[in-house]
Amino acid sequence: MRILVTGGCGFIGSNFIRYYLKNYPEVSIINVDKLTYAGNLENLFDLSHAPNYYFIRADIADAARMEELVRKGIDAIVNFAAESHVDRSIEDPSSFIRTNIFGTFVLLEAVRKVSKEQKIRFLHISTDEVYGSLGKTGAFTEETPLAPNSPYSASKTAADMMVRAYFHTYGLPAIITRCSNNYGPYQFPEKLIPLMVSNAMEDKELPIYGDGMNVRDWIYVEDHCRALDCVLQNGKEGEVYNIGGASERTNLYVAKSILDHLGKPHSLIRFVADRPGHDRRYAIDFSKIKRELGWSPTISFEEGISRTIEWYQTHREWWKKIKTGEYLDYYRRMYHER
Ligand code: NAD
Ligand code: TYD
Repeated sequence: MRILVTGGCGFIGSNFIRYYLKNYPEVSIINVDKLTYAGNLENLFDLSHAPNYYFIRADIADAARMEELVRKGIDAIVNFAAESHVDRSIEDPSSFIRTNIFGTFVLLEAVRKVSKEQKIRFLHISTDEVYGSLGKTGAFTEETPLAPNSPYSASKTAADMMVRAYFHTYGLPAIITRCSNNYGPYQFPEKLIPLMVSNAMEDKELPIYGDGMNVRDWIYVEDHCRALDCVLQNGKEGEVYNIGGASERTNLYVAKSILDHLGKPHSLIRFVADRPGHDRRYAIDFSKIKRELGWSPTISFEEGISRTIEWYQTHREWWKKIKTGEYLDYYRRMYHER
């Protein structure tokens, strides 16, 4: 089996490739990544000489390249490639439109063009953020109406709709997964958990938006990879599967538990201006994937956060290098000039 993974040099994609090749050494993976600020070859350095792993630097919005790659005889595409950070989408949505919407369309077209000769399963990695925001109770099901609130989630919603249309119109064998907030090794330190962990380790302030009572459902990235494995193998074409971590936590709780793990004072927490259009609460009903594919999350928030903190403690060089240069300019704009 040959799988084309897009965005494999990012956080979830790199964890997925490592997970997949460890569990299925007979599979070949071609990783197509543009290497934006979020793509890092070091994330898969350990696999760079593996005989069944190939890296190609390319943009998913490049139609000629994508068609050429799809014609290389692949069995499946797992589409992780995206601009993924809500705050950046608020600053400038244009790259989100280009990659998340147009890039997904280009991949779908490439698959459609070869569909008479080759069957290619298309697994599209989406997010719970397409459903918008919840009140104090309830959880997103696959039937919840789509109501995205940020340019990021709007671009992911548009991509989901295009994937859906290609299934219904052209019979393209596509499946969509919508997962909650991931955390774990190799996450870029602009996202909440790695930002809080790395700042705390450097005795820097932990910027909390608004009142810190926004809730996310945290899933350890390995649990997400296992869910994607189940869907890739046994998911039904044309379906959507929600994936969640059964770990709803407020942002303030997350920040405090990181400080407690590291033995740092809560006084490092700094409340800053809220994110515009900030979704209040996400929660996932994952009963469909549990019932139909037998998947449930296995790593508790407490276990996952201590594994994650340990990883950032033993990989200081990885994140220290990132937290300089271009990233530092962005960080200053985000937090210090607010
Ligand atoms: P990430 O930002 O860490 O990685 C994205 C990767 O895509 C990077 O390697 C980047 O170089 C690559 N990329 C960006 N534009 C590209 C383009 N035009 N062509 C080729 N490659 C390109 O993101 P992540 O957190 O690993 O998220 C991966 C996917 O999972 C995204 O589609 C995201 O929407 C989705 N998702 C993420 C989360 C989360 O909590 N991180 C939750 C649910 C869904
Ligand atoms: P984030 O990791 O950006 O993921 P998403 O916006 O996709 O859920 O943010 C997670 C939560 O943490 C979200 O409610 C915003 C909040 N947050 C902060 O309070 N401070 C920060 O510095 C960041 C990056 C996020």
